[in-house]
Amino acid sequence: MDITAQTRTAWVRWVDPGQPVRPFGTRDFRLLDIAERARWRRIPRRIDRERFTTGRATLKRLVSEILDVPASTVAVVEQWFGDRRGRPQLWVGGRPSELSMSITHSASRVGVAVSDARCGIDVQDVAAVVPVLHSGFAFAPGELQAIRTLDGSPEAQATLWWTRKEAALKALGVGLLHPPHLLDARSEESLRATVPWGGEDPVTDNPDDIVPESPAGFGWAKEWDTLRIRDLDPGSPGYRASLALVGVPEGALIELREVAAPVLELV
Ligand SMILES: CC(C)(COP(=O)(O)OP(=O)(O)OC[C@H]1O[C@@H](n2cnc3c(N)ncnc32)[C@H](O)[C@@H]1OP(=O)(O)O)[C@@H](O)C(=O)NCCC(=O)NCCS
Repeated sequence: MDITAQTRTAWVRWVDPGQPVRPFGTRDFRLLDIAERARWRRIPRRIDRERFTTGRATLKRLVSEILDVPASTVAVVEQWFGDRRGRPQLWVGGRPSELSMSITHSASRVGVAVSDARCGIDVQDVAAVVPVLHSGFAFAPGELQAIRTLDGSPEAQATLWWTRKEAALKALGVGLLHPPHLLDARSEESLRATVPWGGEDPVTDNPDDIVPESPAGFGWAKEWDTLRIRDLDPGSPGYRASLALVGVPEGALIELREVAAPVLELV
């Protein structure tokens, strides 16, 4: 692994839920630890259990390949601050790893990212964004204006903007506690330019728009100017996806490695 101040590497892998061992999902399930199995039992819908299992197992296999360690030694440690979930941490061999991880699921796509910068990945089914296409909760005024004037079908473009927001908010650990309509994700520059600084919304007096305290005081807003965005190809035409990295020094290169899933034998 080549980690220098001037390069950040991100590995990304896409799979379908249940792939590649469906209906013999036991291979993935075996990679779940005790905490993950307990969570699996609490997930009501089978498809959501499959997405969860596939995400965790795919992540563990990818880290295992990158670091050349057994997948069983890779763990996702969830962070909770009261009832708020923080950015999960990657542990390897019982210790926190220097690499960061992120997982995303949407309908029939599951994506995982691993990086030596803090990362967030997001995928969205374009069809799922159609109902909120003109929503002032989801999109910033500039985005809504562009959606109204875009030729053809604006939903695919709007879906991409949405994934940039979610990826950025996941990399920062704040998630959708941050009101998404305060972010204009038409470009990396517009995204960086519109983040509220210091926890207060600069453009409205609406109390619903006050950005909550970051879980555990991550100081997430201060890192906003180190944010970088890469649009991804999730490998299916009805989806859009993005990757966000934070803590990337100015001028550093980003090496993006989109790694195909290995074909596993059925068990
Ligand atoms: C983070 C968030 C945007 C993810 O949205 P989602 O619709 O579940 O979408 P995705 O499938 O793309 O992402 C799921 C992954 O996000 C990750 N995640 C959860 N909270 C996160 C956070 N605060 N920061 C970064 N990543 C987070 C998890 O790894 C999860 O994968 P898992 O199911 O294997 O644990 C959303 O859950 C959120 O805003 N959470 C913060 C709000 C909160 O604390 N709610 C409390 C009830 S859970």
